[in-house]
Amino acid sequence: MNTTLFHNARIYTPVDPGTPVSGADQDSLLHFENGALLVEDSKIKDIGDEQTLRERYTNTSIDNEVDCHSRCLIPGFVDPHTHMCFAELREDEFALRIEGVPYLDILARGGGILSSVRSVAVVEVEHLAQNTRNLMLRALALGTTTLEVKSGYGLDTANELKMLEAISMAAAVTPLDVVPTFLGAHAIPQEYRDKSDDFITLVIEEMLPAVKNQGIAAQCDIFCEKGVFSVEQGKRLLTAAQQLGFGVKLHADEVHDLGGAGLAAELQALSADHLLAASEENISAMAEAGVVATLLPATAYSLREDYAPARRMIEKNVPVALATDCNPGSSYTESMPFIIGLAVLNMRMSPAEALIGATLNAAYAIGMEKRVGSLDIGKQADFILLEGKSPAILAYHAGASMVTKVYKRGECVAGATSSFNDEGKI
Ligand code: NIG
Ligand code: FE
Repeated sequence: MNTTLFHNARIYTPVDPGTPVSGADQDSLLHFENGALLVEDSKIKDIGDEQTLRERYTNTSIDNEVDCHSRCLIPGFVDPHTHMCFAELREDEFALRIEGVPYLDILARGGGILSSVRSVAVVEVEHLAQNTRNLMLRALALGTTTLEVKSGYGLDTANELKMLEAISMAAAVTPLDVVPTFLGAHAIPQEYRDKSDDFITLVIEEMLPAVKNQGIAAQCDIFCEKGVFSVEQGKRLLTAAQQLGFGVKLHADEVHDLGGAGLAAELQALSADHLLAASEENISAMAEAGVVATLLPATAYSLREDYAPARRMIEKNVPVALATDCNPGSSYTESMPFIIGLAVLNMRMSPAEALIGATLNAAYAIGMEKRVGSLDIGKQADFILLEGKSPAILAYHAGASMVTKVYKRGECVAGATSSFNDEGKI
């Protein structure tokens, strides 16, 4: 057994009440201005004011002490929605988009997601795993210690399984906790263009059992959108997935209000994601069902769309989580600090609301809340040190990383160069 006391830290953390945090509670963090965190092996043994902790442990020997030099100590970020497993970037498509071609038009012309599908089909699993690992490590350096990665650029059984295998291979060579999600219904393959119901049948009858048998993915997702899959098709697939024991979630009401948020409430999904166009009625239904809204502000930013109504969701008691949506099309970023900046400045969330969205509520959105997402005693010692006096620095200092050290299960796994010396002076 090995114990380490991280002390002289400005600690900010959500407290896990056993459910996702919503309403006014999402604005409330536990804070110790002169705090300490006691880590035993890979887990949190205690947390509190430094003096109180020292008194509590006077007769216990502590193996190591780490002076945090008054930096902020917060939980590692949890990124609950990414498409980090892909073969090629889509820079040509970005050029089209900034000239004004709509995202869904590019998809309708056979580009977008379908172009990623073509490039995934022709590469080896090792190539995909290498790309994915590189993105995961970049996210780690920016403070993400747990993340979700979706398949969905395969769209046939062999390539969907290949993607999930690549995600699991990449995860195995990084310190992150990775939650793989099966997204076989991400787009309608060209050959099923006018028979999307038949494609959903294939996903249910062939892909889902194969994915279950492979044993890598624990969750199932679908893209419900005009020109992609309907909410009825979403219900068929996700109900079948639930029967096989998968957790379910969906890309809902991203561009058009099809009622995906209502389906998430009906199915008690882990989350409904995007929600830029969700109706008031369905937002209320999500609040009623306690379903997490995973908001992806970098997608709105990159698609130049209005942002999801985060304030209205919080007012209606919907627990809000934040994610990068990291993908080569609609949101190419692996940076949770950037997401927090957008959430605070463009969605008008408070820094505390954004931090809870990027940690505890995000952990709930991917079923990881028992292990990560807050600094509660017994959870994994996944935390980061930030320059600055409060987590607001993440939004305030735009375009730079304030993350100086990243700890996963109690071990330092990444650290950016600091412009401060250890006394915290420039
Ligand atoms: O969440 N909306 C659908 N899927 C992704 C985009 C994937 C892509 O463009 O490659 C999203 O934005
Ligand atoms: Fe997505």
